[in-house]
Amino acid sequence: MKKIERLLEIEDHYEVLGLFGDGGQGDLFVGRHHKTGAKVALKTQKARDLGPLSDFQWAGSDLHEEGDRMLQLAAIQAIPDILHTGTYKGRECLVMEFIEGNQLRDAVMAKRPVRDTRIVASIIGQLCEILREVHDKKLVHCDLKPENVIVEPDGRLRLIDMGHAVRVGATTHEPHGTRGYASPEQSDASDQGLTERADIFGLGCILLEMTVMRLPYGGLEERAERECPVLPPDRLAALPPEFAALALQMVRWKAEDRPSDVQEVFDRLRRHLPPLGSSRPSRRLRPDPTEYYRNHPPRL
Ligand SMILES: Nc1ncnc2c1ncn2[C@@H]1O[C@H](COP(=O)(O)OP(=O)(O)OP(=O)(O)O)[C@@H](O)[C@H]1O
Ligand SMILES: [Mg+2]
Repeated sequence: MKKIERLLEIEDHYEVLGLFGDGGQGDLFVGRHHKTGAKVALKTQKARDLGPLSDFQWAGSDLHEEGDRMLQLAAIQAIPDILHTGTYKGRECLVMEFIEGNQLRDAVMAKRPVRDTRIVASIIGQLCEILREVHDKKLVHCDLKPENVIVEPDGRLRLIDMGHAVRVGATTHEPHGTRGYASPEQSDASDQGLTERADIFGLGCILLEMTVMRLPYGGLEERAERECPVLPPDRLAALPPEFAALALQMVRWKAEDRPSDVQEVFDRLRRHLPPLGSSRPSRRLRPDPTEYYRNHPPRL
């Protein structure tokens, strides 16, 4: 496995240009390498870190572990490259490739409900392709949500934020992920061990949020409770029936009732993908996630 050089002082090597993102656990800065001029993203521990986490963000692990997991995923094109680790103003810091584009939340959520099945299939399909590679490395991302997906200008999706990723089968001692998107087995200590099906739940949440405009169970407000109303039937009825059935199965309470892997999810939406060489949808998003499959054959 490739090794990452640890820098004593990030500022000796990179110019830190400014804060651009404020995640649940980290502050994100944009920076530039002094010599090469390469633009980078720097993720640091929050200044107030060690203070209480908001209720929406459950504990992830530290940046050292996040850096290790990014290294394990280094061969995956869709995951940002990790370049260095080090300290910035006394805080732990990860230096990674800067990904240009828009958060999926901004690219899609403002245009909801997304009714064009080619757009929905292009987003979920690309995420299946990426997750397949992550799962093949025996990791579960555990924090799928529209803020952790970036749509590049050419419509290609990238998956970021390995802050909650765990090894397949890992047991957890506390809630893990983001409330609303975390599967029931992540919402408590899990002594059964987390599997790929936790990510299928998160992916189902993204699918529902785009189309039905609701998260299942208690949504963001409450932790997932089995008794909570699941989804409004009138909005579900507006979806093509096979999409509605797939989405509902992806967010089933019990992990073993969900599709077994992302290949199954992909196969069930394959026929909705925009054909290679087809023209763009008339009401497209910008950036346009269908562009990817209009220009590349599916990888699954
Ligand atoms: N490599 C990158 N290139 C471009 N933007 C990035 C990169 N990494 C993170 N970002 C932006 O910064 C935001 C926060 O980063 P990240 O999700 O890694 O932090 P976080 O604190 O773990 O967030 P949370 O736990 O709230 O999801 C992202 O939603 C994204 O918009
Ligand atoms: Mg994040």
